[in-house]
Amino acid sequence: MKGIILHGGHGTRLRPLTHTGPKQLLPIANKPMSQFCLESMIDAGIRDIAIIIGGTGSSKVKEHYGNGEKFGVKITYVEQDYPKGIAHAIRLCKDFVNNEKFLVFLGDNIIQKSIAEYSRNFEKSDDAASILLCEVDNPSRFGIADVKDGQILNIMEKPKDPPSNLAVTGIYFLTPRIFDVIDRLKPSWRNEFEITDALHMLLKENNKITYNMITDYWKDTGTPEDIIHANGAILEKMTPYFLGKKESNVTIEGKVMVGEGTIIKSGSKIIGPVIIGKNCIIESNTVIGSNTSIGNNSRVALCNISNSIVMEGCNIECNIKIKNSIIAYNSAITYDQTEQNEKIFLLGEGTRITI
Ligand code: DAU
Repeated sequence: MKGIILHGGHGTRLRPLTHTGPKQLLPIANKPMSQFCLESMIDAGIRDIAIIIGGTGSSKVKEHYGNGEKFGVKITYVEQDYPKGIAHAIRLCKDFVNNEKFLVFLGDNIIQKSIAEYSRNFEKSDDAASILLCEVDNPSRFGIADVKDGQILNIMEKPKDPPSNLAVTGIYFLTPRIFDVIDRLKPSWRNEFEITDALHMLLKENNKITYNMITDYWKDTGTPEDIIHANGAILEKMTPYFLGKKESNVTIEGKVMVGEGTIIKSGSKIIGPVIIGKNCIIESNTVIGSNTSIGNNSRVALCNISNSIVMEGCNIECNIKIKNSIIAYNSAITYDQTEQNEKIFLLGEGTRITI
């Protein structure tokens, strides 16, 4: 079985974080989110993987994954000139798929459960496709399946009046039969070639589509809030380790992961789940956590930071509480000791701050 990871799109809902790179490379628990998809595929025994790239920072995707060797897989890059839809992206991989069954993973979908068993079952089956469904509170935001007595009746994209709350997650087990229907698709109301329309057409042409339910964690990380939520959920499941150093009088509570070369200075408190990358400095009297990731080579001083993601190379030194925040690579938040009532900003386009 082959694998396809979708790494294209514009990531507009995540601006300004996506001005300089694709959303799927934004880190969750200090790891690019699409790497969770890759690892899921590896766990399911898939070693031949295509990554669809296009849009901002495609070169960063190639830089991170290379030819796949460091992950023990073979990676082929497929360029999509414009995000014309998930089905369009999949169609570009027809030659790569070469008549085998394949698994498609949207690079912004995070799950925790292994899909190895679903993958094995699909390989043995005569299903034309198999999808994973998950109950959601806001079904109009997703592709939705209408299901009765274990059979899928209809599949539709973001319905205004959803017939169920069963979201079609971005993990699709497919056969080359999908290419024939994609070739006959018309663009949707959002002017995209929808995978949901392709699946619906496959179904209506009497092809068998089965489903499994994801009952534990699944998140489409469409918004900053989703990313922060996924970060907390992944941290919660990690196995703690401490490879750095800590001075005396440091308090550590709950699950904490600390990388090599990191030092936590006296009087600081780390409340798990928290991950702190390599070569970080947590200065004295700083509070980190819970649900917080600090990227490699960052320095955090004096503040109290919770439910947040700080990416690599940041410098945060200010006596304030920071929460529900995402602070991208190489950012600095410092304070001017001489000016008590004035704030100084150098903000990128689309930046949001709350004071
Ligand atoms: O996450 C699950 C949902 O994903 C499904 O329930 C929907 O049926 C499905 O259409 C999709 O909805 P979204 O509106 O969330 O899709 P989005 O535009 O965010 O694209 C999903 C991923 O695919 C994202 O990582 C970007 C990538 N992509 C998207 C398009 C449209 C591409 O690589 N190329 C594209 O042309």
